[in-house]
Amino acid sequence: MPNMVRISISLESELADELDRLVTRADYENRSEYLRDLIRGQLVEEEWTHGREVLGTITLVYDHHQSGLGDKLTALQHDHHASVLAGTHVHLDHHLCAEMIMMRGKPEVLRTLADGIRKLKGVLHAALSVSSTGKGLRK
Ligand code: NI
Repeated sequence: MPNMVRISISLESELADELDRLVTRADYENRSEYLRDLIRGQLVEEEWTHGREVLGTITLVYDHHQSGLGDKLTALQHDHHASVLAGTHVHLDHHLCAEMIMMRGKPEVLRTLADGIRKLKGVLHAALSVSSTGKGLRK
């Protein structure tokens, strides 16, 4: 087990009740586990704000009948090949496809790729989810 320290915090009783409600709602074992993940979430946000190397995933839904869209999606990913790790394609129905593109790189590059994909005609939705390489989260 890593070095553990015990800290105590002071909260207004209403806020403490809210904390317990959140812990229960998310089905955490205890407050400590919940607060650890809350802190890690803030650290990830900081990594994205400060331009460190991060992990991100674009989930997009698009109409594959849209003329030229497949080529444009491929070209955009080639333009950012150093940041694109992997992709998965799913055929949702006769018209629609979904893809997940996993990336590792500078936040601004990942955002640029997500914005470029979102703007393409025929792309119905493109969401960028932010994560971390984990390097800054271990300690
Ligand atoms: Ni498809």
